[in-house]
Amino acid sequence: MQPKTSRELFDKVILPVYAPAQFIPVKGQGSRVWDQDGEEYIDFAGGIAVNALGHCHPRLVKALHEQSEKLWHVSNVFTNEPALNLAQKLIDNTFADRVFFANSGAEANEAAFKLARYYAIHKRNPYKTKIITFYQSFHGRTFFTVSVGGQAKYSDGFGPKPADIIHVPFNDLNAVKAVMDDHTCAVVLEPVQGEGGLTSATPEFLQGVRELCNEHQALLVFDEVQCGMGRTGSLYTYQQYNIKPDILTSAKALGGGFPISAMLTTNEIASVMHPGVHGTTYGGNPLACAVGCEAFDIINSPEVLDGVQKRRALFIEKLEEINDQFKLFREYRGKGLLLGAELQPKFHNKARDFLNVATEFKVMILNAGPNVLRFTPSLIISDDEIKEGMLRFAKAVEKVVNA
Ligand SMILES: Cc1ncc(COP(=O)(O)O)c(C=O)c1O
Repeated sequence: MQPKTSRELFDKVILPVYAPAQFIPVKGQGSRVWDQDGEEYIDFAGGIAVNALGHCHPRLVKALHEQSEKLWHVSNVFTNEPALNLAQKLIDNTFADRVFFANSGAEANEAAFKLARYYAIHKRNPYKTKIITFYQSFHGRTFFTVSVGGQAKYSDGFGPKPADIIHVPFNDLNAVKAVMDDHTCAVVLEPVQGEGGLTSATPEFLQGVRELCNEHQALLVFDEVQCGMGRTGSLYTYQQYNIKPDILTSAKALGGGFPISAMLTTNEIASVMHPGVHGTTYGGNPLACAVGCEAFDIINSPEVLDGVQKRRALFIEKLEEINDQFKLFREYRGKGLLLGAELQPKFHNKARDFLNVATEFKVMILNAGPNVLRFTPSLIISDDEIKEGMLRFAKAVEKVVNA
């Protein structure tokens, strides 16, 4: 038995890189969470777009339990059945022929960027190393991924960065054209920018970038860590745009809450790799992949995918009711259940206030930057939970607005 802990302990023992809420969640079921005092919260945050099937989904619990009694870890010196099964599911349902498993979004992206460079250098020429990427993008916290990401607050202060990375404005095809050349190895983007404020790529932009990549033999890399795995209403968001990337990364909802990530690519691009070029100890471990297989089967079903737009509509209906009263939001952003509500200029820089006060009223929400509230609930959250959570959120809004 571990001793009972308190939130104060966080400030003494954890590296101060987070500022978590004052309560400690101890139990979750579906879209509800309970704290140490038994207080119940409605979860519209979903672990930042991770708990796509809510907390402790019975089929995921069963898959984890069954696998936990069979085989936990063998390393990549040996393969395992759940990893092969999950790879096959990903291949059968996407553009990809090959999968590399890792443990987090950052690691999947690190693998993707290394692969893009390696492919260009070995298949084309050693100077084809330029990566074109976008302001406000987010790809993880390793040094390569913060460098490709377009937010200085995450990448600066750590000394010299990996070279030959160029940032341009998102959705601006002319800006991409201006820097694109035969030395470009890849264009990297999130089809819906998550952390950067929930901006969706326009179809013309994605189409244009695809054509530019073809023209210059550059790879198109989609980071679908946040917007993938059903979150926007299709298995992957690229499937709504009628184009294919060359490399795609997936994480978060892929394990439904169990850490796992994947990088997907084609046979042609994968052909430059060989044993030893890249790797990880835990990537593709049986526990994560067994849960991933079950999560995949549930998410990749018409019931779950078709329900996403219906739930988005209910969220927006309820947000509009709040808006009628408080004139809080300027526009709704993102896609599906990667939903953003941009605050009116009057409330700019206040997004965090709303989420802090929301916890007082027992609802968990997120922000995406200082001006956008973000809702990334379970894809199977019930209508009643949405309504109840929005009633609680409305009370939080009233408190912030009248403060
Ligand atoms: C689009 C995107 N890429 C990469 C990451 C990094 O994932 P992780 O925190 O699992 O390393 C995130 C995390 O928020 C993300 O939203």
